[in-house]
Amino acid sequence: MVQTPDIKNKSTVNRGKDPAKETILTPRFYTTDFDEMAKMDLSINEEELEAICEEFRKDYNRHHFVRNKEFEGAADKLDPKTREVFIEFLEQSCTSEFSGFLLYKELSRRIKDRNPLLAECFAHMARDEARHAGFLNKSMSDFNLQLDLGFLTANKDYTFFKPKFIFYATYLSEKIGYWRYIAIYRHFEKNPNDKIFPIFNFFENWCQDENRHGDFFDALMKAQPSTVRGFQAKLWCRFFLLAVFATMYIRDVGRKEFYEALGLNAREYDVYVIEKTNETAARVFPVVLDVNHSSFYKRLEKIVENNKRLSEIDKKKSSMFVKTIYKLPTYISNGYELIRLYLLKPLDSKDFQPLIR
Ligand SMILES: [Fe+2]
Ligand SMILES: [Fe+2]
Repeated sequence: MVQTPDIKNKSTVNRGKDPAKETILTPRFYTTDFDEMAKMDLSINEEELEAICEEFRKDYNRHHFVRNKEFEGAADKLDPKTREVFIEFLEQSCTSEFSGFLLYKELSRRIKDRNPLLAECFAHMARDEARHAGFLNKSMSDFNLQLDLGFLTANKDYTFFKPKFIFYATYLSEKIGYWRYIAIYRHFEKNPNDKIFPIFNFFENWCQDENRHGDFFDALMKAQPSTVRGFQAKLWCRFFLLAVFATMYIRDVGRKEFYEALGLNAREYDVYVIEKTNETAARVFPVVLDVNHSSFYKRLEKIVENNKRLSEIDKKKSSMFVKTIYKLPTYISNGYELIRLYLLKPLDSKDFQPLIR
């Protein structure tokens, strides 16, 4: 999955609600320089990429995403509050999966003749993401909702990223997706009564798809070592790690009710996912973040608090102009915290996890 932050345009959901406002936390749909991608010489890591492609060809989850009787009536068992947060979760996940599908599909189509190995890998990943998005969408229909994926495709804004930025962003979103899904799955293994909906039974195999997708980008970056070597690469890896971690943390803590409904503590869950993703990223990124530094979560919490303030100001009946004036100090404070987080001394990956490199 390309796990990008929250859903953007709720008018794409057929339930007659007002469209949600677009914020920095909304999901992104990406596009890139297809020409540069097509020309990529993979020779120095072709063997590994070929091996990963062979795994994709096996299509382990071909028969996995089949709905069973457990889904019948499951939606009606949720209390109204849980129902609301769960629907939001389905929408966001479906949009993220679908955004991955679109990107991989387009990449595969555009480089097909010039870079067949890469194109084939992208095609297999698009297949997986389409399956994930479709499966989520079916669960949404249990709640009489449906994401209008055609509308989404036609009306989304696409963010342009150069290939190396696509690698950083998608690598991290696949790996963080893996850790998010597996953590939820393991929690339900221990606490079966918390499982509020049968879709979670599918998470174990599902997250293996995401893990393979992440491994593919790991191998791809190793085939293009300039993406993960040198001073600039270090700066960008830090940037993407922070962007992904901060976005997730702020969003999850902001909707902690969903995690409570699953019997999870949003903060503890995110700390675990961040820790694991950071460790994993050390296998390919030259540096990772010092997430155990005493100031790391303190600063993130400050932003969470600031965001609460911002939404309180939004509820006031003043004009836009007055609201902006009120908000300014909070914006500055958020910027300050993010800069301080970014400047936190990173950990050199080779010292951090010598065993698994
Ligand atoms: Fe994926
Ligand atoms: Fe996925």
